[in-house]
Amino acid sequence: MSLSRIHNFSISLDGFATGEPQSLEAPFGHAGHRLHDWMFATRFWGAGGSEGLDNAFAERHSHSIGAEIMGANKFGPPGWQDDPDWTGWWGPNPPFHTPTFVLTHRPRSSMEMEGGTTFHFLDATPAEALATAREAAGGQDVRIGGGPTVVRDFLAAGLVDHMHLVQVPILLGRGVRVWDGLDSLEQTYDIESVSSPSGVTHLTFTRKLGS
Ligand SMILES: NC(=O)c1ccc[n+]([C@@H]2O[C@H](COP(=O)([O-])OP(=O)(O)OC[C@H]3O[C@@H](n4cnc5c(N)ncnc54)[C@H](OP(=O)(O)O)[C@@H]3O)[C@@H](O)[C@H]2O)c1
Repeated sequence: MSLSRIHNFSISLDGFATGEPQSLEAPFGHAGHRLHDWMFATRFWGAGGSEGLDNAFAERHSHSIGAEIMGANKFGPPGWQDDPDWTGWWGPNPPFHTPTFVLTHRPRSSMEMEGGTTFHFLDATPAEALATAREAAGGQDVRIGGGPTVVRDFLAAGLVDHMHLVQVPILLGRGVRVWDGLDSLEQTYDIESVSSPSGVTHLTFTRKLGS
């Protein structure tokens, strides 16, 4: 069974997964790097990084993943659809190494990058996008890569089997929140949490049998 999974999805105490305004100079707006400082400190992110609890969670990001789905605002800053040369933030060899489906109302032709990443652009419902990504994943799992709008839509549609969420002890006050409209989500998931010495809290949401 190919699962739909979310990993390393980082939110502030007040539920924001990005700040504002998003731009070429500031992809996370006023949040800067603060949502992911915990991850940048791990060996998963770079040689010499920590090897403890945060790293153990971070590394699960890529295990058994055969495709990713992301939103248009993760792929580029506002207006990237008007730039025919925009290929994402990540340079010639993006860190996905699988087919990667970008949800956008303004799709373009697919782009094959180095290292196994091919970006495909889809204007489709979450369920249709997941079916397409599953087919491309060759029996492996599909990662829902964010941002918060896409994560919220997939959760609302009941399309997420497992979510690793990282609560970071900062307050953003504004940006894009993930929880709006997801009342009682906890009833369909088994939820566990563990505090890390780094100060973040890792939460895992595993869909209950039959939900
Ligand atoms: N905290 C984290 O762990 C984390 C993880 C990933 C990303 N991020 C950050 O989150 C921010 C982006 O999040 P976001 O919530 O603003 O946007 P997003 O979820 O990346 O993308 C939303 C956009 O994708 C397009 N889209 C979504 N569903 C669609 C569908 N079914 N069909 C067609 N198009 C669809 C629409 O754009 P168009 O109408 O323009 O096509 C929509 O406005 C960035 O700052 C990124 O860096 C944070």
